[in-house]
Amino acid sequence: MSRDNDIAVDIQNVTKMYGGFAALKGVSLDIRDNEFFTLLGPSGCGKTTLLRAIAGFEEVSSGAIILYGQNIADLLPNERPVNTVFQQYALFPHMNVTQNVMFGLLRLGQDKATAKNRVGEVLELVQLSDFADRMPGQLSGGQQQRVALARALAPSPKVLLLDEPLSALDLKLRQAVRLELQQIQHQTGITFIFVTHDQEEALTMSDRIAVIEAGQVQQIGSAREIYEAPKNKFVADFIGETNLLEVNVTDLDTGRGSCILPGGVQITCPAAEGAHSGPGHLSVRPERIAITALSKGLIQGTATRHIYLGTDLHVEVSLVNGGHVTVRMQNSTQIKIPEVGQSVGLEFEPDSARLLVD
Ligand SMILES: Nc1ncnc2c1ncn2[C@@H]1O[C@H](COP(=O)(O)OP(=O)(O)O)[C@@H](O)[C@H]1O
Ligand SMILES: [Mg+2]
Repeated sequence: MSRDNDIAVDIQNVTKMYGGFAALKGVSLDIRDNEFFTLLGPSGCGKTTLLRAIAGFEEVSSGAIILYGQNIADLLPNERPVNTVFQQYALFPHMNVTQNVMFGLLRLGQDKATAKNRVGEVLELVQLSDFADRMPGQLSGGQQQRVALARALAPSPKVLLLDEPLSALDLKLRQAVRLELQQIQHQTGITFIFVTHDQEEALTMSDRIAVIEAGQVQQIGSAREIYEAPKNKFVADFIGETNLLEVNVTDLDTGRGSCILPGGVQITCPAAEGAHSGPGHLSVRPERIAITALSKGLIQGTATRHIYLGTDLHVEVSLVNGGHVTVRMQNSTQIKIPEVGQSVGLEFEPDSARLLVD
């Protein structure tokens, strides 16, 4: 467990009201020093509101935000050890790259020689040294984004807030910039708080992720913890894809439970804390289910559709109880794909399934 002086940002029971609407509802989070921390959730869940509160742009309605031991509310804007990269990373179009990055440093009162030195350092960090004299209009979207990043890194903030900084870039570029961002975080040791609605982005970059829904934190953990052990239906469904089987939970013990699957077979499997007995949901990831002979399956159904994804193939199976299951298979030369209309059995390791809190 981290000690108090390892905490960069301590968010304590923060609520933010806009009139009668609560955009944040009692959010508590500890973000560690030197961590790549991601706030992940659908559009409108309160991510930008929380970032703005951390930056001190937005007053919270109740609760507190402590940055390295100091309440953000007590700090003047220029005393806050925070900087932000926005989704719309508006560069000054009439200034070249160097001038764009230097602007903030001069405004902070740095002399020109010191500022110029620092600009050189951060342009090297974001691999734009060769573009120092270019105008923004002569740069690609990805390069412009890196100028915005350099500009935010230049004053050496302790915490860098990144609000969906990659959303304007196309997929290939986004994937490349993800790795660069992670590297820059490691090299600088600056605490990154990264906001995204893209689960893949969150999974690939973050030390830890907070999954947020409608102004509330649903779960905090590493990518693996959140993917492998989602707490509830929202998290299981939002992070990756999952099958949610309607089951009847008969027994619960610490961390495990028994349930009856559609069709009547009983299994014992891991259970989320807070799962309750009676009707509930079992999450099984598509890659953890296999198609087998009808008589060998834990559940039975009919193949209804194939979806070709290149590296993988999805087979959709409809169950007798009206539910659907997606099975993900690797597109190897050996796979045997059931015909549409064929009755099939479905099998999985009970330990790779999970009873959820509804
Ligand atoms: N200034 C504002 N006045 C009223 N409602 C707002 C304001 N800013 C944000 N909201 C509302 O708060 C909710 C969260 O917004 P936001 O933090 O921007 O979400 P996200 O960044 O996760 O998409 C949304 O429902 C949004 O409409
Ligand atoms: Mg937003």
